[in-house]
Amino acid sequence: MLGHRIRRKSLLDKVTTPEAAASLIKDGMIIGMSGFTRAGDAKAVPIAMVEKAKSDPFKITLITGASLGHDIDRMLTEAGILARRMPFQVDRTLRAAINRGEVMFIDQHLSETVEHLRSHQLGPLDYAVVEAAAITEDGGIVPSTSIGNSASFAILAKKIIVEINLSQPLALEGVHDVYIPTKRPTRVPIPVVACDSRVGFPYVPIDPDKIAAIVVTNEKDSFSTVEAPDAETQAIAAHLIHFFEREVAIGRLDLSLQPLQAGIGTIANSVLAGLADGPFRDLRMYSEVLQDSTFDLFDAGKLSFASASSITLSAACSDRVFNQFHKYKDRLVLRPQEISNHPEVIRRLGVIGINTALEVDIYGNINSTHVNGTHMMNGIGGSGDFARNAYLSIFVTKSLAKGGRISSVVPMVPHVDHTEHDVDVIVTENGLADLRELAPRERAGLIVTHCAHPDYREALLDYFQRAMARGGNTPHLLGEAFSWHMRQQATGTMK
Ligand code: COA
Repeated sequence: MLGHRIRRKSLLDKVTTPEAAASLIKDGMIIGMSGFTRAGDAKAVPIAMVEKAKSDPFKITLITGASLGHDIDRMLTEAGILARRMPFQVDRTLRAAINRGEVMFIDQHLSETVEHLRSHQLGPLDYAVVEAAAITEDGGIVPSTSIGNSASFAILAKKIIVEINLSQPLALEGVHDVYIPTKRPTRVPIPVVACDSRVGFPYVPIDPDKIAAIVVTNEKDSFSTVEAPDAETQAIAAHLIHFFEREVAIGRLDLSLQPLQAGIGTIANSVLAGLADGPFRDLRMYSEVLQDSTFDLFDAGKLSFASASSITLSAACSDRVFNQFHKYKDRLVLRPQEISNHPEVIRRLGVIGINTALEVDIYGNINSTHVNGTHMMNGIGGSGDFARNAYLSIFVTKSLAKGGRISSVVPMVPHVDHTEHDVDVIVTENGLADLRELAPRERAGLIVTHCAHPDYREALLDYFQRAMARGGNTPHLLGEAFSWHMRQQATGTMK
């Protein structure tokens, strides 16, 4: 049984317990762990680390692809193991520890982390802890449902701990395309010229002598928590679909649009699902995560190919997809996140990027990460990789948060993740603002009248008009620009 999964016989001797593997991790180490949007995370070693910390407290720097499943970030936080964490997280307990200043969180573009490791600005990595579906005869690591940063972690780390997960289908073998960019400053162009380009290995090529331990697990990925579309997300999807139809009608796009990227979460999933009802066909995705909507589009005959770094599905969709993976396999590729999110490739392919904002301001600057400009939500993730380089950079958000006490359209965002220069279209349930080629004063009128909630429109227009009287290309009343956030902090509402 294990011989099918660990095909390099000499490595069978490395199979050990999670406790023995965790005992290799020492205080002060820098650890690179697999896991991207809850998919393909290491599942046994981190839990054994939590146990170990009870009698032998230690702290590490933990670097992953993106978010982890199985409450691992919560458990590591509660065990006091995390000194530093990067580049992304979505866990409430970790978020609170970050905002108390107990864990140093480095919120980083997802395409960049391994470049920093490779150029020794970060690291060196002591251990890579990576989940795999198999190890080949040559010692190559076959990743599971995500690649994330695992390939470069394994290549660059001093030593590797592999978790062979028997619950991950062996049919995943062949779906990965591991391409590692050559050295700078003489790097050659990344040869991905289409969503379906295959330019690397179907496994991570490593020196098998670096494998220090192999742990066998049998636990599925955490399922996605994406919620069903609601009236507002459906309205956002409808505005966007109407916009795409208009772009087709005036000849800027054809019915296959351009490669699509959609961020994780309910809104993005809902927007993609909505494309199944439109006139579009032969769609392609060049994204970082594939959610349920990708497979709905495949089944609806609308999608011809999808490239990403991970597959994160609900329980029902996971059964449907992995029980008949052969139906999808030759139309899928999983890449390292530095390639799925690479500025060069995103620009080359002309990706349409759809990401979610926490709040937007009247000129089109976007805050994706910091509530009230100070408190970390999740992180910038891949949104910046796509927004800066996309053919069309689209941001979606509901116009209200916290039961209407917060307007998602504000005079000035107190933290900027995506500047006005990187934002083409903003959509809320109220409407869509196409900001392309507009000056700030023109954008503000559109954003307020099309996107803001009617409850806040008048106050936003009043701010804008008084600011214009003061002058400027991007008029503001600096003494008032954050008064909405300050009012919300003081009274609980922006009203
Ligand atoms: N002010 C304060 N809180 C706000 C807010 C605002 N303007 N807008 C939303 N929120 C809160 C919501 O109330 C909700 O809080 P809760 O968890 O306590 O219920 C939370 O933010 C999430 O908002 P929700 O409307 O459920 O949207 P979401 O789950 O799609 O998340 C982001 C929205 C912006 C937090 C999320 O998309 C994100 O982290 N983006 C950055 C990373 C990214 O874009 N990656 C893209 C590639 S995957």
